[in-house]
Amino acid sequence: MPSGQLLLEALAMMRRQARLSLRTIAPWPDVRAGRAFRRDPLGFMLTLAPQDNDVVRFTAGFSRFALVCSPDLVHRVLVSESGKFGEGKWTERASHYLGDCLITREAEPHAQRRALLDPSFGADRFGALDSIVVSCCERLAGRWRPGQTLDVLSEMGRITIAASGRALFGVDVEPEVEGLVPALSQLRRDISRLPFPLPGRIAARRRLRRVISGLCRGPMVERLRAAHLSQGAVESEVLAMLFASFDTTSSALGWAWFAIGQHPEVEAKLHAELDEVLGGRVPTLEDLPRLRYSRAVITEVLRLYPPVHFVDRRALCDVDLGGVRVRSGEYILLSPLLTQRLARFYEQPARFWPERWVGADVSRPPRYAYFPFGDGPHVCIGRGLALRVAALAIATLARHWRFEPSPALPDPGPNAAILPMMPERRT
Ligand code: HEM
Repeated sequence: MPSGQLLLEALAMMRRQARLSLRTIAPWPDVRAGRAFRRDPLGFMLTLAPQDNDVVRFTAGFSRFALVCSPDLVHRVLVSESGKFGEGKWTERASHYLGDCLITREAEPHAQRRALLDPSFGADRFGALDSIVVSCCERLAGRWRPGQTLDVLSEMGRITIAASGRALFGVDVEPEVEGLVPALSQLRRDISRLPFPLPGRIAARRRLRRVISGLCRGPMVERLRAAHLSQGAVESEVLAMLFASFDTTSSALGWAWFAIGQHPEVEAKLHAELDEVLGGRVPTLEDLPRLRYSRAVITEVLRLYPPVHFVDRRALCDVDLGGVRVRSGEYILLSPLLTQRLARFYEQPARFWPERWVGADVSRPPRYAYFPFGDGPHVCIGRGLALRVAALAIATLARHWRFEPSPALPDPGPNAAILPMMPERRT
């Protein structure tokens, strides 16, 4: 690209940034709160008395936020009054990195793109998913040695990318996995830290785009091309899908091994169910409805360790949320991480307890006290895929392997970037 055009693009980006920050600027900056929020979001949010309030306001850095904690208000923001709320801070940033894609679109253009993509995520599209996940898991586990220390988050990332690549694009992503895992992890870190891509990272993004352009195949891509999307727009969508699936599903699986490894009673019940239903063979999609306890384990992992800690929005008009007046332009935060751990909705909220989802004598939380996949027009398009991949991967690997938490990181917080664990053969 000629340097003049690069300069113009940079100026346009800066102008957009300036507009965005003016719109949401706080009366005074709170640098300490901003730092505390970034360092330990859950700890910071717990200081805001979310047990007593449905909405709490705070200023972090230069921005003002309204943190919504009650299920009724979560429902209003995500579903029943979703038209009053537009893209939040994270999505604004993501648009500089991911370009124009389903994640970054709003209102009518979003609805059109969603209608185009939804059919690619129907249950009928996942016919061969079981054999894909089983073979990815077996290839991966073939390299493990009992007792070695592994980062289960990146190991599970390999399974996730390979499974999403084959399921969504019909492409064997395995040869690219070594490059894709660190590139997608870096992209996630950049989006959460930097308002727009640094020039130093532009080369890395170009490399990532080159890999992505090689993956632009399969029925989903054909639908996009048939709707006359340019090659660049198709690549943005493919990148966004891989990005959205990689980080989240691998986090769910990594934390599942962590939680199971720390709770022998849960592990014993899981093994008993797998042995009874599968009798030693590999799992198929048809087995999943019978793996009831495994499903409860995944549901509980997504409660206690939701991969997406925040869903954010920006008010498009003045709005009253539970008696708190939120002005147009202010940011709204909804946090599965916080709400799904509040004692007013969950018995023993800090306990990893899959029985809460299957036991007859445990009270269920209100519907919108649990929203790991969001809801409403932006509800996760890949939730069916993610839940199937997670259930199949756990069933495949738990037949022969179990994971011990590594003494190197005995108590990782929900923000941990790595989860060191040691694979052991099941006896
Ligand atoms: C356990 C795994 C996953 C979790 C917890 C998760 C969570 C979420 C959440 C909370 C949202 C809503 C964001 C919002 O309302 O602003 C979302 C949206 C989205 N997710 Fe997922 N996700 C997961 C897996 C996946 C997978 C496997 C894919 C794709 C293959 C995917 C693709 C997307 C896309 C494209 C959106 C944007 C949807 C829209 O705006 O219409 N996700 N996800």
